Amino acid sequence: MIDGQDNFGINAPHQSGPFLHSMANFSSIFERVLAGLCPQAYCEIGVEGQILSRKIIEMARIHSSKVYGIDPTIDNKQDYENYIFIQKPSHKGLSDVTLCDVYFVDGDHNYYTVKGELDLIKKIPSSSSDFPLIFLHDVGWPQDRRDSYYLPSYVPEESRQASISGLGVDPEISGLTKFGLASGDPNYVFADARGGVKNGVLTAVEDFIIENPEWSYLNIPGIFGLCILYKQDICEDILNRISDLSSAVTWLGEIISILEYNRLKNLCETYRTHHHFSLTTNSLNKQILHGAELEKKNVVAVKEKDRKDSLIKELQLKQSLLNQEIAEAHRESYNARRIAVEANNKAEKLLADNLLISSSWSYLIGKIITFPARQFKKIFN
Ligand SMILES: C[S@@+](CC[C@H](N)C(=O)[O-])C[C@H]1O[C@@H](n2cnc3c(N)ncnc32)[C@H](O)[C@@H]1O
Repeated sequence: MIDGQDNFGINAPHQSGPFLHSMANFSSIFERVLAGLCPQAYCEIGVEGQILSRKIIEMARIHSSKVYGIDPTIDNKQDYENYIFIQKPSHKGLSDVTLCDVYFVDGDHNYYTVKGELDLIKKIPSSSSDFPLIFLHDVGWPQDRRDSYYLPSYVPEESRQASISGLGVDPEISGLTKFGLASGDPNYVFADARGGVKNGVLTAVEDFIIENPEWSYLNIPGIFGLCILYKQDICEDILNRISDLSSAVTWLGEIISILEYNRLKNLCETYRTHHHFSLTTNSLNKQILHGAELEKKNVVAVKEKDRKDSLIKELQLKQSLLNQEIAEAHRESYNARRIAVEANNKAEKLLADNLLISSSWSYLIGKIITFPARQFKKIFN
């Protein structure tokens, strides 16, 4: 459900996504203010997404009016014969615009760029005293009093506020924050500090009005803030429409502002949640990788354990075979010892028997030998 349709009694935005950066969301206001007028040329500064471009071309087709688109970062073609795209930064691109009645200023949201654009637009001729009418985006928080640089190099260094890339904003934090709106978006390099001189889009509008008191402006809060800049001497019809709108803002401005605050806080919360979600996802991914590494190591360890287990079994088998061999050897050695002891006993017995026999024989032999001597002795005694 997009493009301003009123479904179920509630209007959808003119673009998808929660950021709502497109001026197309103010289409109903443009149509009411411009109703019945016949601008000869429209100019859109900052064309990205071409959501507003299509709306402008729809309006331009009615009177075959010219449409200028100025943007240095994109290449843009439209299916409209009176569309002229100028691929330059606004300060240079505006010098190619020869005549224009209605401007949509939505390029680089900082004091230097916007003040310069208004000073240049003031000098470009328009087709009648009803014009020019300038619709200018981002006069509300956060760029009302804080510069942001889409392309810092297009702003001279001396005209740039001190700024850090990568940090975002939060309506409840005066400084910049890591988790705010547009944190990490390279197209939003915010000034470090809010407020002070020559800082922010609304400050640029106010300074333009101070220098050009014949001009007036009306701010509409919500969706980053829309400003309508007009000359006080334009026709009564347009002045009446702007006056009606001004009354509506007087009545409803605070409510719109509360809704905007709520929307922006929710956006910041979404950024924070998204940031924490990606941190958690990163850490989960790391843990999953670590788990997979451990799983791999586990598989290797299990294989190694299996290899060692089978080695242990092999060794145990060898050991039990060895034990059997040792037991067999013990048995054989015991038997051999037993046989040896028996043989020894037999030998000893044999020896003893032999000794006995030999001693008996030697006694007998001794007696035999000594007998004659003894007989002889007896005779002669
Ligand atoms: C917020 S977007 C425009 C959205 C568009 N106007 C819409 O309402 O749908 C801002 C665009 O401004 C362009 N831009 C940045 N600096 C610029 C400059 N100095 N001059 C012109 N355009 C610029 C960027 O390239 C980007 O495309």
